[in-house]
Amino acid sequence: MSRTAVYNLPARWLHWAIFGLIALEFAIAWTMPDIHRDTRPVGLVAWHLGLGTFILSLMLLRLLWRGVSGVPDPHPGPAWQDRIARLTHALLYAGFIALPLLGWANASARGWTVHWAGWVPLPALAAHGAAWARPLGDVHQIVAYALLGLIALHVLAAAHHHFIVRDGVLRRMWSSSR
Ligand code: HEM
Ligand code: HEM
Repeated sequence: MSRTAVYNLPARWLHWAIFGLIALEFAIAWTMPDIHRDTRPVGLVAWHLGLGTFILSLMLLRLLWRGVSGVPDPHPGPAWQDRIARLTHALLYAGFIALPLLGWANASARGWTVHWAGWVPLPALAAHGAAWARPLGDVHQIVAYALLGLIALHVLAAAHHHFIVRDGVLRRMWSSSR
């Protein structure tokens, strides 16, 4: 079966839409009030939960679409680079699915009802006050910063390909022609 050299249109749209929404989600996380025992999930905190669960659903949709429609042939290059790229991509998928789930479990333990996209009420992932889910707020924060580091690596790799090697890797995710 012959495969194309670029990501298909839905894969490209999902990649850049999720990128924009994750940037917004970090901006909200850094602007929202500090969360204490008596914080209520309103205002920017509600936006954080709603946007975060929306990102989770887009990530799952994206993985599903990847499974159904496939991916382009790997970009030709050294095998070690291919291995690191695959590992980075797998960790980005796993990370941006695990991160919202950690936040959601912590929100449930705080007794908050989480709404998908700020709209549809979701079931609780942990009982109100559940001891196992209380530390997950800190874990959520640490994982978020670890993922920022991984994004930096991913962007540096893209910039290296684009500006130094000039081999058109960015176009695989940007346009329908090479
Ligand atoms: C891609 C999605 C998400 C990103 C990038 C993200 C990022 C962050 C970051 C960076 C913080 C720390 C803020 C600070 O430094 O003060 C944070 C805190 C928090 N987030 Fe998220 N978040 C996401 C999704 C979610 C979701 C879906 C929920 C809940 C449904 C959630 C609930 C929380 C809670 C409760 C805290 C406070 C944790 C604590 O201090 O104990 N987050 N988030
Ligand atoms: C929130 C930030 C980002 C996340 C979570 C992310 C995630 C991903 C993932 C998971 C893939 C693999 C796609 C697949 O094979 O299914 C990918 C590919 C790609 N990303 Fe990102 N990305 C982000 C930001 C960026 C940025 C800012 C750039 C460029 C400056 C970029 C450029 C690319 C390129 C060129 C590919 C295709 C690599 C290839 O040829 O195989 N990404 N990204």
